[in-house]
Amino acid sequence: MALPAPAPITLFGATTPSGQALMELARGTQLVVAGRRPPQSPAWGGDPPPFLPCDLDHANGLGMAPSGLLVSFAPIWSFAPWVARYASTDPLGFASLQGVIACSSSSVITKRFAANGFDRGLVQRLRQAEEQLTLTCAAHGLPLRILAPTLIYGQAGPLGDRNLSKLRQLLRRLPLLPLPGEGGLRQPIHCRQLAAVALHLAHLLPSSGGDHAQPVHLPLGGDDTLTYASMLRRLQDATEPGDPARGCRLLALPPRLFQILAAPLLLLSPKFFEAVLRMGADLAGFTPAHRILGAPPEPFPVLPLAP
Ligand SMILES: NC(=O)c1ccc[n+]([C@@H]2O[C@H](COP(=O)([O-])OP(=O)(O)OC[C@H]3O[C@@H](n4cnc5c(N)ncnc54)[C@H](OP(=O)(O)O)[C@@H]3O)[C@@H](O)[C@H]2O)c1
Repeated sequence: MALPAPAPITLFGATTPSGQALMELARGTQLVVAGRRPPQSPAWGGDPPPFLPCDLDHANGLGMAPSGLLVSFAPIWSFAPWVARYASTDPLGFASLQGVIACSSSSVITKRFAANGFDRGLVQRLRQAEEQLTLTCAAHGLPLRILAPTLIYGQAGPLGDRNLSKLRQLLRRLPLLPLPGEGGLRQPIHCRQLAAVALHLAHLLPSSGGDHAQPVHLPLGGDDTLTYASMLRRLQDATEPGDPARGCRLLALPPRLFQILAAPLLLLSPKFFEAVLRMGADLAGFTPAHRILGAPPEPFPVLPLAP
């Protein structure tokens, strides 16, 4: 499908793997980067995009007044209050915007019944920020999409994820990894896929923003849904021959035995205990990236991976 000519984009969270990937995909689009520190020089060469210093948490002043589209991979609980301040302190500047794409998290769905206080607090912060951003944009008739991705992985330029790469490091260190059976379902999304979806929606938003058939809130995952154990096996297979991660044996225990063995963790850290229990939970069923992009599905893992 031919997309309309892209509006200029102001990108927040450029120093994340997804932000790096978006900068690479958005070559040819007018792009300005806003944040506390400039992104590293692009790995693909050429000049880095112009940089506007902006601390989203700085309550005094905006730091700058962007136009065009806002795309954010920064924490939504910092971005949403900043957008609200922009709308109230510079209504004319705000009215010139064409749309907002903000990244939240699928945790707002998957952790809403968490027993530990840390995760409950996270859900509350995400939910409040999503509501604030929705209200601000609705009050000014500004098109909005909130992306709620699950597990983001992969490498873009010099930046890599800190979740699947940590699992890979664990596989390198351990001879044996116990699992609750095959584990629950996962739908990891590569940072490049997330960036591609954000950019695609950014291009569509100025023309389709008023289309109320399109949901504002978009839970988003990768194109493959697989068990926790299959995800680890595919990660092992994606390492170089001779990589110690390949040698780690995945030990499928009966889920009840696994839970009994994990129980002492509850005394050390209820948050970690719950994270271990979640290995058996299904955290999938989100819209696959390829469906939005209208492209063929990409099997897990999409490369490159963080080392
Ligand atoms: N990692 C995951 O698996 C996962 C899963 C679901 C959703 N998400 C969401 O996906 C997005 C990217 O996640 P991530 O883990 O890669 O990054 P992150 O750690 O959540 O966000 C870091 C980014 O936000 C910017 N930032 C933070 N505070 C800021 C402030 N006060 N002012 C300006 N910029 C600020 C940082 O810029 P500086 O360079 O200034 O530090 C950095 O670029 C986030 O919205 C996150 O909530 C992540």
